[in-house]
Amino acid sequence: MLGLVKRWRALSSRGIMGINRRNADYVLKYNERRFYPLVDDKIITKHKALAAGISVPALYGIIETEQQIKHLPKMLGARQDFVIKPAQGAGGDGILVIGGKLGQDYKTTSGKRVKSSEIEYQLSGILTGLYSLGGHRDRALIEYRVTPDNIFRSISFDGVPDIRIIVLMGYPLMAMLRLPTRLSDGKANLHQGAIGVGVNLASGITLRGTWLNDKISHHPDTGSAVDGVQLPSWERFMQLAASCYELCHLGYIGVDMVLDQEQGPMLLELNARPGLNIQIANDCGLTLRTQAIEAHIEQLRAQGITETPEQRVKFSQNLFGHLATTLPPG
Ligand SMILES: Nc1ncnc2c1ncn2[C@@H]1O[C@H](COP(=O)(O)OP(=O)(O)O)[C@@H](O)[C@H]1O
Ligand SMILES: [Mg+2]
Repeated sequence: MLGLVKRWRALSSRGIMGINRRNADYVLKYNERRFYPLVDDKIITKHKALAAGISVPALYGIIETEQQIKHLPKMLGARQDFVIKPAQGAGGDGILVIGGKLGQDYKTTSGKRVKSSEIEYQLSGILTGLYSLGGHRDRALIEYRVTPDNIFRSISFDGVPDIRIIVLMGYPLMAMLRLPTRLSDGKANLHQGAIGVGVNLASGITLRGTWLNDKISHHPDTGSAVDGVQLPSWERFMQLAASCYELCHLGYIGVDMVLDQEQGPMLLELNARPGLNIQIANDCGLTLRTQAIEAHIEQLRAQGITETPEQRVKFSQNLFGHLATTLPPG
């Protein structure tokens, strides 16, 4: 705990953003309430993304009522691997990643046996709103299970790593690779126990990581170095993240993406209240960056200019690409 306090203090001199500032100056200011439903429901996000030509894990089906739960086998057909997810869930809760069958039963990607009755129970829990924001009744989506690119083999334990980019008015601000651990049970959410690793915006090369609020250089389960890894398709990830502004019209978002072995970069979800831990992973505060982008937008506005996603990515890379590694020590 003391280590964490020390780190936040050190970061505050580098423009760290706290929760109050995030809410008042960014979430409330840049995110219009009427656009929230699009990002707060993963089924709606998926349909919107597909319409915009952005690739997402294929939707196998939606379960909306208790009666539909028994139709799951028909929905799956011959498919043995799939993911069950609450449409309005968050933080990795309620997600079941199934990697195959064990006789009549299923198994998760980490090898745990799951009985059909447990899957039905999970679906029922999702419908009653056990995992949804505000406890509202929810829908369950059944989707394609992403197979992570081989690059992650040595730096991830089971599951699928994801790439989070925070975007302000379409300009990428900061990026983080999240790596599942034994503890996080195949999910890449930090409070499930995944590792957050900073990423240089210009190159897509990883920086050091943070795990359970400790600074780390190696994956605790695999022992491999997490820094210095070149993420493939980096330009595509940046473009995808930047273009999500046109997709959802929210000015301050966290874009979660994955790299599928066969299908490449995919959008997983959008967050209208992205967490602040990304700053620890990058050893860098968000505020200096948000202010630089706001000043840039102000200047453009005075000249009547709006930039394309390509121009916005270039701007962010030029400005922030080198910063993450060259800031003076705390
Ligand atoms: N289709 C999928 N295939 C494999 N793993 C997935 C899939 N969808 C989600 N996951 C895992 O679960 C994590 C959380 O998923 P996400 O859709 O971002 O939901 P949440 O809102 O709960 O964070 C992802 O980071 C990833 O590790
Ligand atoms: Mg997520």
